[in-house]
Amino acid sequence: MKHLLSTADLDVADAVRILDTAGSMAATQAREIKKLPTLRGRTVVNLFFEDSTRTRISFETAAKRLSADVINFSAKGSSVSKGESLKDTALTLQAMGADAVVIRHHASGAPHTLATSGWTHGAVINAGDGMHQHPTQALLDAYTLRRHLAGPGDVTGRDLTGLRIAIVGDVLHSRVARSNVHLLHTLGAEVVLVAPPTLLPVGVGAWPARVSYHLDEVLADEKPDAIMMLRVQRERMSSAGGGFFPSPLEYTRRYGLDARRLALLPEHAIVLHPGPMNRGLEISADAADSTRAVIVEQVANGVAVRMAVLYLLLAGGDTSARAAAPSTT
Ligand code: CP
Repeated sequence: MKHLLSTADLDVADAVRILDTAGSMAATQAREIKKLPTLRGRTVVNLFFEDSTRTRISFETAAKRLSADVINFSAKGSSVSKGESLKDTALTLQAMGADAVVIRHHASGAPHTLATSGWTHGAVINAGDGMHQHPTQALLDAYTLRRHLAGPGDVTGRDLTGLRIAIVGDVLHSRVARSNVHLLHTLGAEVVLVAPPTLLPVGVGAWPARVSYHLDEVLADEKPDAIMMLRVQRERMSSAGGGFFPSPLEYTRRYGLDARRLALLPEHAIVLHPGPMNRGLEISADAADSTRAVIVEQVANGVAVRMAVLYLLLAGGDTSARAAAPSTT
């Protein structure tokens, strides 16, 4: 694996390898080994054309914990505002010696273009492209689900086999939903997407997931092991020229997670949200802050998962770097 562009590119072995490596990375952090020498002398560029808090900071933290040098590039305040293209930006960063480029871009497919164009020689990691993919978010979600819910797995190592996951809300605009549907299916989980018809994409019937329009029915009848609430992406609705339908009030009434709906979940079920949250819209404050919510833990797990991805892409084939990597036992 040279790049990480989409969870659709990961088979079971790839996914389990990343999640197991993340477990080893988390173990080093728990033992207060704050810094590993693994990527000393390597340069990771964070190339962000869209806003981010969690993803950008956790990639920076992950790279620094592996002793890499980090260059943070944000389109705001850069020559992009003078009209510089992605190609010229990438060539400029390559001239500074990027070993990996972590890219977030509003255009679906921008990371793929970067990976195949020759504009950079480094590994390309997709940190979110348009409405397409956000693979490290799905990996950290799977890692979190694994920590709380995984059973012994099946013979292929798919240890989310048999779990029922409900992904609820604005599926239409969500790269998190697209990434999770592929990865959770690969890991053996059963996914049900719950959304109003207006917030489901054309072609959703071909995804490896079931679809429901009725959250209360899914909670009462299917008893999901986890519920993943999606952010309502109002900024993409206005830029696409579409409206928010149903109205915010109606949306919350039919699809919001609140204390009443939380009580319908099985005792062991957990609540995920990729963040940032619209409190009071897709999730109430008492649901977001409940003991079932693992939303802050997802952020912490994101650092371990991104350490694993950087390690595997940049040092995975290097025996000296392997020697410096944490043991998986
Ligand atoms: N989940 C996520 O991608 O959050 P940020 O936009 O803050 O990076």
